Amino acid sequence: MDKEGKRYMVTAALPYANGPKHIGHLAGAYIPADVYVRYLRLNNRDVLFVSGSDEHGTAIPNQALKENTTPQAIIDKYDALLRDCFEKLGMSFDIYHRTSEKIHHETSQEFFLTLYNKGLLTEETSEQYYDDEAKVFLADRYIVGTCPKCSFAKAYGDQCENCGSSLSPRELINPRSTLSGKPPVLKLTKHWYLPLQNYEDWLKQWILESHKNDWRPNVYGQCKSWIDAGLQPRAMTRDLDWGIKVPLPNAEGKVLYVWFDAPVGYISATRAFFKEIEKGSFKYAKQNRPFQHVNNETWRKYWQRKDTKLVHFIGKDNIVFHCIIFPIMLHATGEYIVPDQVPANEFMNLEGDKMSTSRGWSIEMHEYLEDFPTKPDELRYALLTNLPETKDSEFTWKDFQAKNNNELVAIFGNFINRALVLTQKYFDNRVPELGVMNEIDQRVVTELKSFPSRIADAIEGYHFREAAAHLMDLARLGNKYLAETEPWKLAKTDLPRVGTILNLALQVSANLAIVCEPFLPFTSKKLKEMLSFSQAMDWRSTGEINLLKAGHGFAEPRLLFEKIEDLVIENQVYKLNEKKRKMELDAQPVEPSKPEISFDEFSKMDIRVGKILKAERVEKSKKLLKFQVDTGMDTRTVLSGIAEHFTPEEMVGKQVTLLVNLAPRKIMGFESQGMILTAADKDGKLRLLQPSDVVAPGSKIS
Ligand code: 2FM
Ligand code: ZN
Repeated sequence: MDKEGKRYMVTAALPYANGPKHIGHLAGAYIPADVYVRYLRLNNRDVLFVSGSDEHGTAIPNQALKENTTPQAIIDKYDALLRDCFEKLGMSFDIYHRTSEKIHHETSQEFFLTLYNKGLLTEETSEQYYDDEAKVFLADRYIVGTCPKCSFAKAYGDQCENCGSSLSPRELINPRSTLSGKPPVLKLTKHWYLPLQNYEDWLKQWILESHKNDWRPNVYGQCKSWIDAGLQPRAMTRDLDWGIKVPLPNAEGKVLYVWFDAPVGYISATRAFFKEIEKGSFKYAKQNRPFQHVNNETWRKYWQRKDTKLVHFIGKDNIVFHCIIFPIMLHATGEYIVPDQVPANEFMNLEGDKMSTSRGWSIEMHEYLEDFPTKPDELRYALLTNLPETKDSEFTWKDFQAKNNNELVAIFGNFINRALVLTQKYFDNRVPELGVMNEIDQRVVTELKSFPSRIADAIEGYHFREAAAHLMDLARLGNKYLAETEPWKLAKTDLPRVGTILNLALQVSANLAIVCEPFLPFTSKKLKEMLSFSQAMDWRSTGEINLLKAGHGFAEPRLLFEKIEDLVIENQVYKLNEKKRKMELDAQPVEPSKPEISFDEFSKMDIRVGKILKAERVEKSKKLLKFQVDTGMDTRTVLSGIAEHFTPEEMVGKQVTLLVNLAPRKIMGFESQGMILTAADKDGKLRLLQPSDVVAPGSKIS
């Protein structure tokens, strides 16, 4: 197909609505997709951009179990969270839909029936693990056991997270159900399979031959190894009570496999989009550009016409589904187009380790937005310049700070600020006349001309990281121009020359306002406002020096970006480490309770509040501190093994909880007359037990 389609159908992976999503997800699929789509819109291309929440699969009831609530409550909660984050980060979906919507259930069932009625699905009965106590068939994730490859004791039925091997539940040694903890039993069950192996020849031709040179090597390579290994029939249904019902008689308790319904979600989102446009009432859709003659068949243009270019933006863990299984589903119907590109990214690591929400080693989108609510573009830029396009990349807070301070502030922001402030100073906020241009000016004009196509080529070639670098180079060009021409030194002697320089600098600024829009949409808007730039933004008008007419007036200059201080960054690193530590502690089991005691036994203990009057170390002991404690009744000596957790200095004046009637004990030659009580966290760190307010020494604790 011609590289430039007549229309574009762009999708970004539907995230599971089972929890927050982190910035690695953003870098993987959403930000590159948004840059691509915004760029296409600026070029007035016919593009539709869809995504939405993936609300089926075992991930949802699993999370409901963890949060002790219902699957419906889980999807409602996380759909709202994801929707809000994407909005705040500037993701310009035409529609962000939900797979729990009726139109999606209908579309998925229709799709299934199309395949079924054409005789393309096979029905097979096989033995699967069943939990006899919970009375359910067990999805792969609900079975744990010992990995046959590395002997890890907690491998899942589909994968060992220790050695990374792909597994099937039957391979696990000593399998157990995560629901009851009991070994599962094998029971016969019927499912409908898509015989992937029947499409091997087609796949070889379509991917291995047609896309050998234009798909990314990581994507192509993964597809090739799947195809080379030989494809197997894949079950398109599951035994589960959460999901889309299989639309066949005798399919009680069966739902569509989540990887069947989720990608169909792109199609149902498109249908929902045009429905909302047609009705003129918007629930999930946004009208980013005008659409004419919309009816209930319009969606087909985007999914069934050969002159549509279908592009799926995803992370690398979704490659097989978007390059093999879903395309086979689409192709098998004989009605749909298949993707032209699947620019999947590798993973983005974080501060030297794999990003993971469950291990607490992550920056969730909402966490970033809570701490940096006014800086969506700063994150977009830091991620864009570090996208894992060819190999895994790494986000560090230091790099985020450097990208902000050394590039956005020092180059982009500085250039715009200088151009505008100087114009304000010498020309009363109006664009000065362009006079005769010298060699330096000519060079800038020529260079400026080359940027839009350099950036465009990178975007159209799916090299977003390179595109972002070109963007910053354009700002760099402007900065360098002002540094070389030093207009501030010429104002007294040659104001017309200053006018020419600033006219050109302002033209570069106006160009930046347009070409930065796909990358930094909030900055673009702000810059456009500052320049009082009122015409419609159009990529095809860039590269020229006629965007702003002489005499055009503009608004008060404001700063585009602010410096981020070291302390802010140190706090984030601290916060990240603390989150991980807390998660690890939470995951550790709590020690079981000691044997029961009677109330009489408890009431024998006399526990009081004491105040530390004096504290000192005990010679030759690393652990002991010796205290003088005011108990309200007397002042007594108490020894306590807390020297590794508290200094004597910080203890003086503190209120403590003291067991006062413990029989005196000799410790390191001193008699201890009581015991200070502490709380030991799971990591062994001690905390004092103190009343919430100051109370008199001797106050009883009961
Ligand atoms: O990996 C995931 O998060 C899946 N929910 C992605 C689905 S993409 C598409 F198929 F909808
Ligand atoms: Zn293993």
